[in-house]
Amino acid sequence: MMKLDRREFILGSAATLAAGTSASALPVSKLVQRHPGYGAAATLLDLQADPRLGEAISTYCTQVVPVQELKWPMLRPDAHTFAFEHADAIHDFAQKNDLTMRGHTLVWYYDIPDWTKQLKDSKAVERAYVDHINTVVSYYKDKLTSWDVVNEPIPDNPKSVKDRRDTFWTQHLGDRWIPLAYRTAAAADPSVKLAINEYDIESAKDSFIAKRAAYRNLIMDLLDQGVPLHAVGLQSHLHAELEIDTHGLADFVTEVRSWGLEVFVTELDVNDEKLTGSPSERDAIVAKRVDDLLTAISTSGPVRSILTWGISDRYSWMNGLVKRPDKQPNRPLPLDGEFKPKPFMDVIGKFTKDV
Ligand code: XIL
Repeated sequence: MMKLDRREFILGSAATLAAGTSASALPVSKLVQRHPGYGAAATLLDLQADPRLGEAISTYCTQVVPVQELKWPMLRPDAHTFAFEHADAIHDFAQKNDLTMRGHTLVWYYDIPDWTKQLKDSKAVERAYVDHINTVVSYYKDKLTSWDVVNEPIPDNPKSVKDRRDTFWTQHLGDRWIPLAYRTAAAADPSVKLAINEYDIESAKDSFIAKRAAYRNLIMDLLDQGVPLHAVGLQSHLHAELEIDTHGLADFVTEVRSWGLEVFVTELDVNDEKLTGSPSERDAIVAKRVDDLLTAISTSGPVRSILTWGISDRYSWMNGLVKRPDKQPNRPLPLDGEFKPKPFMDVIGKFTKDV
């Protein structure tokens, strides 16, 4: 067999996949470090640019999720095109490295391409919406473990538990936009798990507690309508200066599980922009927040899926988004900028060992 260069090994060559070669040839020494149910988000560009990233994911993870490649702007350059090749390349990487892949995200208020806004009326918007969900879920049928169907449906600072985010989709489809998305996805792939996903519900702060209550209300409402919803995602973009609401969060997770739903941690990272102190002092507080989060969630059962939003501080969205006053890079992820594990990774290990 032709020797693959490093990049082909990491990303998987199309020819190997077409021949149906499976990836189970990974050395056992590699698989032993993996944390069951732990995964990371990555972009194709970063995977292609730095082999250490794919190496780190295949060392520690059992799953992967694309950051951008399944969102509308990358997948849908225009009304007629489905550009699957970027997400397919990540799926090839997953197969080559014995990882499962989850899908993120079918419907999001953010990141809607301009062409959808130029559609001529609400009927055309509904056709594009259903066509998108149906085509994408059908294309990835049997290839993904779960989908974030609707992402971030609750506004910040909701005024009541009935508050929902006012989106482009709401403007055209009314309240039906959420049930319609789930029903369309379930019809396209009856076996993939369908999740809902939300942020800023984990900490002990009034606005977070209000957001959690509205999230709870929406989930109940969807179940009452018989909507095919299987899992509740806690994005867990944590703020290092805020305590986790351990009791409130544990109660929420226990209740959601009692309704027959799974709970996934989907986008964990810890923004340390407001922390002072040395890197190791900051890392200790970050690890404590993650420990508190996972302790609360696991009071009613093991957390079977924990994904971090990136794996190394070198490739975190935080470093483009927030600037620490001391100009030091943020340290939000389990591996540092040189891919060395931090206490955060030990916490992941602690909560995944019995999964
Ligand atoms: C973020 C990406 O990390 C950024 O690179 C991009 O510019 C915007 O989206 N919640 C989500 C993710 O559900 O899709 C977001 O990802 C982070 C917040």
